[in-house]
Amino acid sequence: MVGKKSGSVDTLLIEKRIISPPQSFRENARINSRKQYEEMWRKSIENPDEFWGEMAEEHIDWFKKWEAVEEYSFQDDVFVRYYRGAKLNASYNCLDRHLRSWRRNKAALIWQGEPLEESRTFTYLQLYREVCKFANVLKGLGVKKGDRVSVYMPMIPELAIAILSCARIGAIHSVVFGGFSAEALRDRLLDSKANVLVTANYGMRAGKLIPSKTNVDLALAGCPDVKNCIVVKRVEKDCNMVEGRDQYWDDLMSSASPFCEAEVMDAEDPLFILYTSGSTGKPKGVLHTTGGYMVYAATTFKYVFDYRDEDVYWCTADIGWVTGHSYIVYGPLAAGATSLMFEGVPHYPEPDRYWEVVEKYRVSILYTAPTALRSMIKSGDHWPLGRDLSSLRLLGSVGEPINPEAWMWYHYVIGREKAPIVDTWWQTETGGILITPLPGCISTKPGSATLPFFGVNPKVIRQDGSEAGVNEGGYLVITKPWPGIMRGVYGDPERFKNTYFVQYPGVYFTGDGARRDEDGYIWLMGRVDDVINVSGHRLSTAEVESALAAHPKVAEAAVVGYPHDIKGEGIYAYITLKDSVELTEELRYELTMHVRQEIGPIASPDVIHFTSAMPKTRSGKILRRILRKIASGDIDQLGDTTTLADRAVINDLLNTVN
Ligand code: WTA
Repeated sequence: MVGKKSGSVDTLLIEKRIISPPQSFRENARINSRKQYEEMWRKSIENPDEFWGEMAEEHIDWFKKWEAVEEYSFQDDVFVRYYRGAKLNASYNCLDRHLRSWRRNKAALIWQGEPLEESRTFTYLQLYREVCKFANVLKGLGVKKGDRVSVYMPMIPELAIAILSCARIGAIHSVVFGGFSAEALRDRLLDSKANVLVTANYGMRAGKLIPSKTNVDLALAGCPDVKNCIVVKRVEKDCNMVEGRDQYWDDLMSSASPFCEAEVMDAEDPLFILYTSGSTGKPKGVLHTTGGYMVYAATTFKYVFDYRDEDVYWCTADIGWVTGHSYIVYGPLAAGATSLMFEGVPHYPEPDRYWEVVEKYRVSILYTAPTALRSMIKSGDHWPLGRDLSSLRLLGSVGEPINPEAWMWYHYVIGREKAPIVDTWWQTETGGILITPLPGCISTKPGSATLPFFGVNPKVIRQDGSEAGVNEGGYLVITKPWPGIMRGVYGDPERFKNTYFVQYPGVYFTGDGARRDEDGYIWLMGRVDDVINVSGHRLSTAEVESALAAHPKVAEAAVVGYPHDIKGEGIYAYITLKDSVELTEELRYELTMHVRQEIGPIASPDVIHFTSAMPKTRSGKILRRILRKIASGDIDQLGDTTTLADRAVINDLLNTVN
């Protein structure tokens, strides 16, 4: 666990196991020797123009080629530019260019609904027609190049169609995760200044209907600029429709033309905004542009997943997060892959739902999150063992550190020792995978994301900026850009620079702690800022705190993460109440519901700890270090408490632990 803020990182466990790529996999892999990986990596760092020029030629169709490949400054006036002057379209690359070959009739998207009997398949040609139609619908509503279109939807095919349609006409999509609350949606709509919203009447989760449109109505009450709301009927059930603003998807699509020329976009024209949590309470709109992002998504997809035309590839993420953007939609479709999209959850109707899907579609590549694995481990091995998983040839992990036990379970029980595991480290900001083994040539160590992808030069540094030694924990930074790096924070240029380039000038600051071992392998050790990772979802403690503090009975709130068996990190909230408020169990429930309403169910506190006061320094700063220790049960070593204004607070805190 990283000694947050203290600058030192303790290594508690050294994992010694090494697992080499299975021979059968290595034989056919795209890159099957360490030497080949090292040569390509070296070239990508020493000669990025040549390397990323070649990748761009190979993976993307361009309307016009570039004048320069890589241009940037990580100092002073921070900027990043790839493929200057080049022209392309992301949707064209995901669709049109596959229509010229046999892939026209290949499955592009296989959608499996939560109900077992509901599924739909779109070939590349069919998907192209749907995207063109919806692009024309958007145009018909007056949407133009550069306009923002917000998308708040469950995991249904129309979500992928909507974002590809935006890309087609040059509109910037901003997907808001369907599990966020009305308030969270409203804030994101306002920040992105969207005037069109695409949504669904209901969502489905573990057999229950989620009233998406009701949330939308609440959100839109505070967004007068949203003039059009398009509603997909996920289920045949009425919802409130506002005259003059809301229209059903099917009604608009029925008369739309299936031909729509792809807009010619500059390589640096924005493709999408995606909100993510930083260390302050206000989520930031991470902005990605077209050329570099597409090249990076396609290149990483091909090499990290050792992708072949015959694969059935399944990424279990939600398109509301960056993993779904890059590795359900843009990367796989640019590569001409068959991408499976799943609406459900791991435990419904039974704990073998994932394995039922793998068996049904003969999935060959599975990309999922440690939190899902841990929850399935708990249900028992008989669930996966009862299914035919022999089609799986490669397994991936993303979103949070994978603990070695979950890794070994994935390897033995799911991969049956035949499928290499790629533990991929990256961020919303990075656009694509940065640190990962290449499956045919890098021996893995359970819990390590291993080595950098092409073009990525990571470093672990101490608090003073010097390079950390072998196995010494420090901050992970990246010394130069790669094509998929974000280009800015939407509407707030200073925030981009201040968040990532000021603390350590000249490098990209990831906000993660890491160490590098004697083989150069990188081990991620969690966030070093006030971001917590709950079930692979990024949340800032400040965001949850401000939601709690907004409750009329709360005087002050402090939120920290603590180790949680399934979620990775849980949310622990310390609360002081206003003077006259009585402490009751109902209040605990009321506060939980309040956070769900303000942010969404993912932000529900796991523990609410009522205390009479917060531990503060004389200058009034909350000593979070102490709150973290108490939350993780580490009460014997609270560390230095001499800076506390009132040491009696500690006793009170310890006496009120639930
Ligand atoms: C964490 C998700 C360890 C990390 C793609 C990062 C990981 C944050 C891994 C980004 C991994 C992601 N091992 N930690 N393989 N993958 N993380 O923006 O703390 O939702 O900074 O992007 O997740 O989360 P985000």
